[in-house]
Amino acid sequence: MRFYLTTAIDYVNSRPHLGTAYEKITADVIARYKRLTGVETHFLMGNDEHSQNVYKRALERGLDPRVYCDRMEEEFRTVWKQLDISFDDFIRTTEPRHTAAVQKLTRRCFDKGDIYEGRYEGWYCVSCEAFKQEKDLVEGKCPLHPTLTPEWIREKNYFFRLSKYRDALLEHFRAHPGFVRPDHRRNEMMRLLESGLEDISVSRAGQLWGIPLPFAPENVVYVWFDALINYAAAVGYATDAVRFERWWPADLHVVGKDIMRFHTVVWPAMLMSAGVALPAQVFGHGWVNFGGQRMSKSLGTSLDPSDVAQRFGPDPLRLYLVKEIAYGSDGDFTWERYEERYNVDLANNLGNLVSRVAAMAHRYRQGRLGPTGETSGRLREIPSEVAHLYRQAMDTFAIHEAAACVFRLIDATNSHLTETAPWLLAKEPAAGDRLSQVLFDAAEAIRLAAVLLMPIMPSSCAEILRRMGETRDPSALRLNVDGGWRNFGTREIAQGAPLWPRVEEDVRRAGLAVETGQGKELTVEEKPTGAAGASAAPVTESAEDSRISIDDFMKVDLRVATVLEAEAIHKSKKLVKLKVDTGTDRRTIVAGIAEAYRPEQLVGRTIVIVANLQPAKLMGVESHGMVLAASPEGGKPTLIGFEEPIAPGTRVR
Ligand code: MSP
Repeated sequence: MRFYLTTAIDYVNSRPHLGTAYEKITADVIARYKRLTGVETHFLMGNDEHSQNVYKRALERGLDPRVYCDRMEEEFRTVWKQLDISFDDFIRTTEPRHTAAVQKLTRRCFDKGDIYEGRYEGWYCVSCEAFKQEKDLVEGKCPLHPTLTPEWIREKNYFFRLSKYRDALLEHFRAHPGFVRPDHRRNEMMRLLESGLEDISVSRAGQLWGIPLPFAPENVVYVWFDALINYAAAVGYATDAVRFERWWPADLHVVGKDIMRFHTVVWPAMLMSAGVALPAQVFGHGWVNFGGQRMSKSLGTSLDPSDVAQRFGPDPLRLYLVKEIAYGSDGDFTWERYEERYNVDLANNLGNLVSRVAAMAHRYRQGRLGPTGETSGRLREIPSEVAHLYRQAMDTFAIHEAAACVFRLIDATNSHLTETAPWLLAKEPAAGDRLSQVLFDAAEAIRLAAVLLMPIMPSSCAEILRRMGETRDPSALRLNVDGGWRNFGTREIAQGAPLWPRVEEDVRRAGLAVETGQGKELTVEEKPTGAAGASAAPVTESAEDSRISIDDFMKVDLRVATVLEAEAIHKSKKLVKLKVDTGTDRRTIVAGIAEAYRPEQLVGRTIVIVANLQPAKLMGVESHGMVLAASPEGGKPTLIGFEEPIAPGTRVR
């Protein structure tokens, strides 16, 4: 079994943004899922270089367009690597294999009589790279690019007889109901076909940047006609017949909703004309907005996915985009929601679960877990149902549902610990076997969840699997074999640093150290899981276990300091950058108090800091210490201060 999937190829007039990254991440999830099911998979991505906008951007930068495109290729590849996108091939439309394919396919259409000479007169939106009809414009502007005035073009053009293929296309849609997914996009395209098709212009006259038409080389191929052919070019359409035979037709084109017409009408008609088989499916994903607005750099509603990946690793962003947006519908990214999901799903729920189970395995079983045949609770009833629903969801591209159902297994595992309370079993000598099985089951459920989540969070799941005793390379795992419950084998469980420290910890480290009304810190087994279904308070261990010695406390160097300067940090609502006098040095500290204090209120103030904290970077600023403040849950922080004047450098204890 083979599976060839592609994404849209990106215009390189700007760097990848969250919207383009969304497409690549979701397609990567599908590719990784296919590989996990043992299907031989070929995943293609690439760059669309022959756009007028690309040409203009290169000239603006004073660069030869090819040199500019070479640089952009590196930028794109770097971002895709940061996001852990596992493409097998990356095509550029300036490559010889692509040029050969474009020339072969246009020649075929021409020889068939489907390309003819005519005259085009009308509007053209350079940003869409599309010819626009009067009715498509709103107050004379392209609705997608209202800041641009469309160009009026009057030139000799070559046209493709798209209208000729209307009936054949309708027939294809009817004979293959799954051709266009999801259903609402299929309906939209059917309506478009039913309303009739006009021939389209497929060349541009007098332009230097593009592929010459083989039968009229003074014209270049219109960028869309050129770009679509990449999918066939990459697997050898004009250059490697054996390879083409192996991979064509494509199984799935993943593209955004805005370019469905090109992929479900124009592209299939081009293939019909050239006598090439049609792809099996086209999936049209929705649009990702930023804070409810269309992504736009100039409006400040854009997000660089590489910044997010560098700060948190790729997986929290991947999970957010997959789980929080119904695949096929539009979605939204906000920092607030991102932080919330990160804390709930990852820090509190999955991350905390992995740490607790590993810690208990070490505390009670020297890190070795094996089954004992004892009963251990209801957990085992859940995985097979989850695995079944997960497969069903993945197979129908409901990737958001697949993610959600794995989190049901994770919730159930947290509940399993709450219900079986291994820390109590550990105190009953007769419950040894039960304790072993309870912990083994928890570890097994985590292993299974990690196998299922691998397509979505590849690097974190590899680490979770390692900690749960998996010794094989994660790429060798297969859903049929490894995706079921295994009540056998002894596992060497490894502990490690928290996988996802809570996001506020960044902020807390910068200033919100004292939690009010929380009582003692919880032990590792007791940490609340945060996720739904695990809300019942766990049975706690004795308070003595969480006490620290005076020596431990004295390791924390608390000192009086004076604020010399304070300034807001760009793009951060919570953080402020302080220059403080500690009595022995002057240093920068980033504090999470910006919502409670304006910078000018801070200058001259006497505060308390943790002076011997390892430096940490927060929003790109290195912080050398932490400011103490009381921070009520959900409220604003209040800085610790003194009633009497006190010299900087004085120790606080
Ligand atoms: N070059 C064409 C595609 C040619 S494919 C033969 C193009 N490029 S693009 O850079 O503008 O867009 C690349 C992909 O990103 C498209 O599928 C587009 O729908 C998608 N997205 C661009 N912005 C997006 C969002 N804000 N949200 C989700 N996807 C978005 O179109």
